Amino acid sequence: MVEKTKIRKAVFPVAGMGTRFLPATKAVPKEMLTVVDKPVIQYVVDEAIEAGIEHFVFVTGRGKAVIEDYFDIQFELEQLLRERNKKAELTLLEDLLPKAGTASFTRQQAPLGLGHAVWCARDIVGDEPFAVLLPDMIMHSEKGCLKGMVDVYNQTGGNVIAVQECDPDQAHKYGIVGVGDKAGDGFKITEMVEKPAKGTAPSNFYINGRYILQPEVFNILETQERGAGNEIQLTDGMLTLAKNQDFFGYHFQGDTYDCGAKDGFILANLAFALERGDIRPSIEGPLKQLVAKLK
Ligand code: G1P
Repeated sequence: MVEKTKIRKAVFPVAGMGTRFLPATKAVPKEMLTVVDKPVIQYVVDEAIEAGIEHFVFVTGRGKAVIEDYFDIQFELEQLLRERNKKAELTLLEDLLPKAGTASFTRQQAPLGLGHAVWCARDIVGDEPFAVLLPDMIMHSEKGCLKGMVDVYNQTGGNVIAVQECDPDQAHKYGIVGVGDKAGDGFKITEMVEKPAKGTAPSNFYINGRYILQPEVFNILETQERGAGNEIQLTDGMLTLAKNQDFFGYHFQGDTYDCGAKDGFILANLAFALERGDIRPSIEGPLKQLVAKLK
């Protein structure tokens, strides 16, 4: 088998305005909202780390500077923790800090769409395959979604997109792929369409926000015209790339929570809190009582 170029870099498009989550997101980026005790973005970065990512590229926008601060040291806080001998808290902060030089930040100056946001990372990514993780989506599974995709990529090469099944009634909200033959632990993607009109989707496999892409996509995105929602769509860029390169699907079997929406965010909090030995015992009872009231 030909050795595949390692996926070292991941792009996190974090410039979105979070309009689905107002008023909370008026002053706090949606990526910094807390699921249990970590910001949403930390879950997504952790998924990337598990998959072997070494460099984290954040495409930010106005009002998102706090994300950059979060991935930096907080000198006064750490000083205070040291003085008070709070070792556990200090270790926690140290463990979460990216190694110097492994986090890059660039700004998307205008909200022109996901394709444009990814294109903004072109110089930092350079000429190598890379991952894209949409930070709204938190995945919950034994093996991380991106790790599963890297495993498929190591078998197939090319471009890999994670997909999950959706209610056919909801297909018009997503990018949808056509499903072809099995390829390694994934399958060949035969077509892609961003936000298909109702009743026209080629399948109910939706793109769930995780991608491994070859760098040629950047040149395509540079001149990509606006598509669905009058935005420069990543899916449209991928469609052009698919004329010359293979795209494979990875069927992610875990749970995905759209934390850019209130319901997904609340469910993510419940799901992750119930996994925590320090929290579950005190919420299990009250939670059961709440659920009993539903009947
Ligand atoms: C984006 C992608 C779409 C994907 C979705 C997943 O759409 O363009 O293909 O299915 O994320 O959340 P958006 O949610 O930005 O409209």
